[in-house]
Amino acid sequence: MAPVDAWFNRLYTWKHNPLYQSGTIAVAMLAIMLVTGLYLVIFYRIGTPYESVVRISEQAWAGRWMRSLHRYAADVAVVAIAVHALRMFAQGRSWGPRTLAWVSGLFLLFLMYVCGWTGYVMVWDVQAQIMAVEGARVLDALPLFSAPIGRAFVGESPLPRAFFFLNLFLHIAVPIGVALALWMHVSRLARPALLPPKGLLWGSTGVLLALSLLWPAPLDAPADLLALPSRVSVDWFYGFWLPFSRSIPPWAAWAAILALGGIVMLAPVWTRPRESERVPKSFVKERFCTECDQCTQDCPYDAIRMIPRSDGRPGRVANVNPALCVSCGICAGSCAPMGVGPPLRTGRDQLDRVGTFIAEHTWGPRDVILVSCDHAASPAATGTALEGIPAFPVPCAGNLHSSVVEYLVRSGAGGVLVVACPPRDCWSREGPRWLTERLFHERPAELKERVDGRRVRVVHAAEAEVGRLVEAVDAFRGRVLAMDIAAAETDIAVDLECEIPADEVEV
Ligand code: HEM
Ligand code: SF4
Ligand code: SF4
Repeated sequence: MAPVDAWFNRLYTWKHNPLYQSGTIAVAMLAIMLVTGLYLVIFYRIGTPYESVVRISEQAWAGRWMRSLHRYAADVAVVAIAVHALRMFAQGRSWGPRTLAWVSGLFLLFLMYVCGWTGYVMVWDVQAQIMAVEGARVLDALPLFSAPIGRAFVGESPLPRAFFFLNLFLHIAVPIGVALALWMHVSRLARPALLPPKGLLWGSTGVLLALSLLWPAPLDAPADLLALPSRVSVDWFYGFWLPFSRSIPPWAAWAAILALGGIVMLAPVWTRPRESERVPKSFVKERFCTECDQCTQDCPYDAIRMIPRSDGRPGRVANVNPALCVSCGICAGSCAPMGVGPPLRTGRDQLDRVGTFIAEHTWGPRDVILVSCDHAASPAATGTALEGIPAFPVPCAGNLHSSVVEYLVRSGAGGVLVVACPPRDCWSREGPRWLTERLFHERPAELKERVDGRRVRVVHAAEAEVGRLVEAVDAFRGRVLAMDIAAAETDIAVDLECEIPADEVEV
């Protein structure tokens, strides 16, 4: 995955990399399908399905490209969903509080296929016939219907209008289910990103539109239940299962569906790390909490809320709901008094760690230090290119507390370069976004004004973009040298907001 990401970043830039936007592209395609579908349904006739689709395809001004756009958007949607699901899986985002998103995502995929299947059958050409006959053959293996539905397709009598009515009804009703499932899918996320950035949205719509105009979707010969279908242009995005299922008995098809479906559905169980390997959930040190509300605003999973204090003092205190917390540590970076975060990842833990890090290294005003996110390009992967440059690791760039950066700068380093993932690919959703806001735009816990902002930089480099990282370090080093920083600061005591009285400091 990493080399492909890097290649796409070169092609599209990370801001518009479609791989990072697969979920939002799927939503955009659903929107295109909705608009074009509303147009098509005006002209579709259940009494003469095939003929009505022919008429639509003959409308050179609108129908032809509307129909094609509807179909191409449906194809892109399934590819986008597959990429999106694979990425979630590869990034380990398939268990714990994400289980609801995982299971509802699979339900969404299933609904997309039901919608696609009914859509293709609506056309009632040869492809539709094959899909309908094969679907009926597989469905008849279940004791669902009083009479086998496959009988309707033997050609003894014309298909009843009710069949096409039911098909159309499902094709319109299922998208309502898709909308509900999508709402549930993102219900546990704060600020879900639903649409791709404008450039990618309009760019992909434009490309599909051009494709629809230049290369309209094919239409096969009309279905004929008494003839053996000859040439068929199967849409592989929705019909890939046909060759498999036609070559095996229906019970085997069901066994395969259940086995595969069961394995994927149970991913939240088998991908969950062992208890001992899981990062514990975030917690709040009540007496440090100043009720500022910042962590509730920054948590990408809406896992924190303010509740009345329980320590006898007036006011409210932040409280983490462990059922929603994914242990990303982003709240630790948002808390100026360092009162919240997963164990060993709070601001105070980071300061402890960075204190040891500083003690173990020596650097001067001409040196650059790296702070690197575990999922971004690793300085160790650059071979000898960055040899000798100290790198302080953090599990997510959004977990980094700005005081750590201040500490490093004030310890005499020329500059600090934070290596973060491309924002839309953050494993914790919003890490790089809040990092930038905190370092450069005064979002609490902000980097204090006393730190020379020119000596701090962020580079977005994905795992395989080690070259980009090396270039960024070289460029930053050049800038730091040009700044001619006079002398190392020796006073590296960092002000902690709401410093705890000495008698309260834990030992
Ligand atoms: C129509 C199909 C789908 C659409 C439109 C869709 C769209 C989205 C969107 C827009 C997000 C929010 C992204 C963000 O703001 O960070 C999301 C999150 C998510 N999706 Fe999907 N998705 C679909 C199917 C799937 C499937 C099939 C799976 C996996 C089986 C899946 C797994 C997830 C997970 C686990 C998250 C939450 C990520 C996290 O908590 O960090 N989705 N999806
Ligand atoms: S950011 Fe810190 S001080 Fe502010 S509400 Fe959250 S825990 Fe309390
Ligand atoms: S670690 Fe903090 S920011 Fe991340 S989900 Fe848990 S409470 Fe929210």
